[in-house]
Amino acid sequence: MQRRQFMSACAAIAGASGVGAMKGEWTSAMPRLYSRSRLIDHFGEPIKVGALATRTNYVFQYPFAGTPCFLLNLGQPLAGADKLLRADGAPYAWSGGVGRQHSIVAYSAICAHKLAYPTREVSFIRYQPERSPTSDGNVIHCCADHSIYDPSAGARVLSGPAPQPLAAILLDYDAERDELAALGTVGAEQFDAFFSKYDFKLALEYGQGRAHAAVGATTVVREMTQYCRQTVQC
Ligand code: FES
Repeated sequence: MQRRQFMSACAAIAGASGVGAMKGEWTSAMPRLYSRSRLIDHFGEPIKVGALATRTNYVFQYPFAGTPCFLLNLGQPLAGADKLLRADGAPYAWSGGVGRQHSIVAYSAICAHKLAYPTREVSFIRYQPERSPTSDGNVIHCCADHSIYDPSAGARVLSGPAPQPLAAILLDYDAERDELAALGTVGAEQFDAFFSKYDFKLALEYGQGRAHAAVGATTVVREMTQYCRQTVQC
């Protein structure tokens, strides 16, 4: 990793760890690093942050081939949040938006309630920019049981049965190239429970054992409409 990128990654990790913000507590919820994976489009070209539309659901796989994440441009600078709590009581901090406008965020798309997630056929969970009968909009809404998360504040739970925020994906922003790489997660991962619950289904979707494979040096970003046949609205 080049020095500039390394410094940027360190800043993202330090911010996410809550070092300083929650002195003495941060070791209970440190970020978890996985392999660095550049975000690319389906032609193999790096995603340019300036080309990411607002009010749009993008999906990519990280840190495993079968674990989908949301990539969102929320269109406004987003400061970090330092009072997030996992269901086990461990506090952690989220380092805020990245990119030139500090408006880009990424979260695991596995709902913290009963693990609903976007499949190729259908998704009950998605970013919902517009107001609806059940929310004010600009939220991540899981229509399975109406858990609503705030993507502008570390995906904290706004309402519904989810016991904790969605895990945030640590992003490293290369300002010179206007490109992104995923580095790890912060918050409550649910990958073990996810693989356990959906083992059979994931084997059908990806092939036996393939959903558990780590993503490589790159991971493809797609609009939700290109990823999933039907997105449930609520
Ligand atoms: S699975 Fe998402 S709210 Fe229940």
